[in-house]
Amino acid sequence: MSVSGFPTVRMRRLRYNPAIRQLVRRTRLSPANLILPLFVRPGEKLRRPIGAMPGNFQLSPDLLAEEAAQAARLGLGGIMLFGIPQTKDPLGSDSTSPEGIIPQAIRAVRQTAPELLIVTDVCFCEYTDHGHCGPLSKIGQRIDVDNDATLKLLGQQAVVHAQAGADMVAPSGMIDGMVGAIRQALDAAGYQHLPIMSYAAKYASAMYGPFREAAESAPQFGDRRSYQMDPASSAGQALREIELDLAEGADIVMVKPALCYLDIIRAASERWPGVPLAAYNVSGEFSMVKAAAANGWLDERAVALEMLTAIKRAGADIILTYWAKDVANWLA
Ligand code: PBG
Ligand code: ZN
Repeated sequence: MSVSGFPTVRMRRLRYNPAIRQLVRRTRLSPANLILPLFVRPGEKLRRPIGAMPGNFQLSPDLLAEEAAQAARLGLGGIMLFGIPQTKDPLGSDSTSPEGIIPQAIRAVRQTAPELLIVTDVCFCEYTDHGHCGPLSKIGQRIDVDNDATLKLLGQQAVVHAQAGADMVAPSGMIDGMVGAIRQALDAAGYQHLPIMSYAAKYASAMYGPFREAAESAPQFGDRRSYQMDPASSAGQALREIELDLAEGADIVMVKPALCYLDIIRAASERWPGVPLAAYNVSGEFSMVKAAAANGWLDERAVALEMLTAIKRAGADIILTYWAKDVANWLA
């Protein structure tokens, strides 16, 4: 078949005015697919700005509840809670306590936003004094996160979140077997219905810098390269990670960060069209735009919408983003 070209074909006909552009548009952002990450710490009437993430704060549960109510009014898909505990210790005990900061936060949010989807990050780096994503032990010649010891604690943390009223748990530590361990613990405690969103393909990325200030979760020695993925590893390795999490019962899988890993998002969405795919537009991706915008070098709104559109076009159904409220306002 011959394909005729110019002048019979003119691609600009489909771009002639806003009406036709809007008609043929395929990727549309919606607040309902966005999850807003929030940081909570003990206290009252506390609103501590996060230096590298303008517009984001560490909030005490009372103010978090107000923020959550706003998120609900804007029609966001949900919130993701990160806790900064009163005290840290080698096991991250606050994270497995029913009186810990996350259970307090969930109960507070439920007062103001009864219908809002509450997702909790399930990990230990904010709670351990060493800042790693699980308890440590000597592994061969090195001190490192003890994989199997972490699994038991992950199960406890997830159940504590479920008991406090979380709608979904999101393990983020890249611990082998984490999804299966959490599924088993939830089921045993009567939470068969509670979904797991796994940070399935999470890279050891320099883009997490601002978040570690926000969550006070920087590792006190070493790095996370023995558990998070190597950015230069094959895309196939990411697919294996996702496949394993699905086999262990993950309901939603996540790729993180988003922008440097659009190829992974695309590959996963094509391989598992039936699995909801999330992407985390991480702190560094947010902060660099904020910084450039503050200098007058970029138009924050235009760049943010373009980035989020690209993440969705690559295949993400759900996006975690610090711009979630802004997007809802921009689109309104
Ligand atoms: C760790 C965790 C990280 C983020 C969320 N949970 C990264 C890390 O410190 O390794 C990063 C989120 C962001 O940068 O916005 N469990
Ligand atoms: Zn962690």
